[in-house]
Amino acid sequence: MSYYKISDLEQYFKHYKKSVREPRKFWGKIAEENFLWYQGWEKVFEFEMIKGEIKWFLGGKVNIVKNCIDRHLSKRGDKPAIIFEPNSIEEKEQIITYNELYTRVAKMANVLRSQGVKKGDRVCIYLPMIPELAVAMLACARIGAIHSVIFAGFSAAAVNARVKDCGAKMIITADGSYRGAKTLQLKTIIDEAIKEETSVEKVLVVKRTGEEVSMKEGRDIWLAPLYEEAEETNIAEIMDSEDPLFILYTSGSTGKPKGMVHTTAGYMVQTAYTFNNVFHNNDDDVFWCTADLGWITGHSYLLYGALLNGATTVLFEGIPTYPDAGRFWSIIDKYKVTQFYTAPTAIRSLMTEDYEHVTKHDLSSLRVLGSVGEPINEEAWHWFNDFIGKKRCPIVDTWWQTETGSIMISPLAYVTPAKPTYATLPLPGIQAVLMGEKNTEITGNQVMGSLCIKFPWPSMARTIWGDHERYIKTYFSDFPGTYFTGDGALRDEVGYYRITGRTDDVVIVSGHNLGTAPIEDAINQHPAVAESAVVGYPHEIKGNALYGYITLKAEGTSRDRENVRKEINQLITSHFGPIGKLDKIQFVDDLPKTRSGKILRRILRSIATNEMDNFGDTSTMINPEVVQHIIDNKL
Ligand code: PRX
Repeated sequence: MSYYKISDLEQYFKHYKKSVREPRKFWGKIAEENFLWYQGWEKVFEFEMIKGEIKWFLGGKVNIVKNCIDRHLSKRGDKPAIIFEPNSIEEKEQIITYNELYTRVAKMANVLRSQGVKKGDRVCIYLPMIPELAVAMLACARIGAIHSVIFAGFSAAAVNARVKDCGAKMIITADGSYRGAKTLQLKTIIDEAIKEETSVEKVLVVKRTGEEVSMKEGRDIWLAPLYEEAEETNIAEIMDSEDPLFILYTSGSTGKPKGMVHTTAGYMVQTAYTFNNVFHNNDDDVFWCTADLGWITGHSYLLYGALLNGATTVLFEGIPTYPDAGRFWSIIDKYKVTQFYTAPTAIRSLMTEDYEHVTKHDLSSLRVLGSVGEPINEEAWHWFNDFIGKKRCPIVDTWWQTETGSIMISPLAYVTPAKPTYATLPLPGIQAVLMGEKNTEITGNQVMGSLCIKFPWPSMARTIWGDHERYIKTYFSDFPGTYFTGDGALRDEVGYYRITGRTDDVVIVSGHNLGTAPIEDAINQHPAVAESAVVGYPHEIKGNALYGYITLKAEGTSRDRENVRKEINQLITSHFGPIGKLDKIQFVDDLPKTRSGKILRRILRSIATNEMDNFGDTSTMINPEVVQHIIDNKL
């Protein structure tokens, strides 16, 4: 009996039961039968949830890139591994076969080694969505360096924080990047990010846009000449199952970003397994995930999950609306994409465009549609189903997180049923539970609670880089003995899960996690600002947008409000990039507070979302009179 592919609903239930009753056998068999190991493991797992200590495939020796590329070469050497679709329709696509990918990764790995990068070193990658980004990630993994991809829309300050936190030895970047009709200067941002002394010794620069960049002697090097000279073969590093594979930063509800550490073997096994089952993978498929490689979705499905299964994966450099709003549909048509995996925010924005953009293109190759990153609303779900999938493609609404590494709750295409707005059933191996107050599990159906997972799974993040205490506090303390996701969920009458949203101060804007506290910190740096509170409110396209309530210092009250508004958003952009901008800024005389001085964000959130009939318990509020004033002046 193989557990690697689930063929029907009955088998799903069988595998699920097996995974709960005999997790060692279940995962052990999947790992043993589907991957290449230098040496098998001694123990499938070992854990102590309370301490956040989790290990999988202990003692195993493996290299994920050998599994992504080398082992496919004999059978699939000439099969396209990556199809690169450039930003401009004038530029020719690149079809990179598995053989070609092997050579590119080997050369890049040799370049990195020649520049002193060794196993365990951290390499930050700040690149546009071009093949070099995928190749750089794989090259790091091949030689055992820990990659930390930083989304190339982040500002210099955000890059600086990440580079410093992980102590990167090298940054790989490009001169610039193309995004629609715009060009961004990436190298300049890197120069700014590391203008003061950091751990970075080398900056490797890919030429993409041809802009002029300044190259610092002894630190900055062009990739091209080194790459041309590099050997075309490379011996991969032998990694322990639990050696870190990458660090990926995600926002927390407070303070600095959390560097989630993913390790090698568990991540490999589960991203491959979930890719194969959620997307109903077949050998001649063309998989397209529109997420940037700078996010976990890009890591786990565009790259690792797809290549581990020997699939063909599309890498798109551009944006959905360039040169016109039919770009996504034209790409599906051009490459005969079979699985299309995107985010609700993209769907919502494209459904407002002229429908001719869709009908112009032949979408009949599609077999599976996927959604990820935030709850998908009913209208978007139906539009996706009716107009893109033409009611013949199952939609997989996949719930998971940067921390979980792979998809946790989702329909399995052609295997388990879908229900609009529901992530439905947990995958085998995932023991989802709803928890209530006092750490009690809420059993039965038609219930709501805090979504937790009560048993470890192979691809879970093992720690927060440099801060294990924070890891324990964030994920293992609210409901001791389980992993707390930070999300609320409901379970319907048949046991399907629907994610209701974050229960903490994280807001998901256009699919990006934003902690409100770090944004408030940035706003408070403005000289005219006394205090601020940022909350999320529903937005038609972005899912959520940010609403800031701001009090000004006495000397700031005479300033022109429009200018202050602009400056605040500039300040936020300089810290986080444009993603963090506030859509609404309301200047208020005072913020509602508790007796102990805590801002009552809950009330501000209710005002922003127009849910003013019930503010809940307000007995602890010290200044109830400000509330009406805020409501009267609401934007
Ligand atoms: O709130 C959930 C939401 O996105 C959060 C995780 O964000 P991030 O780490 O950036 O990873 C996003 C891509 C995996 C979750 O805690 N979320 C993600 N997928 C869904 C979702 N909410 C509802 N439905 C989903 N399918």
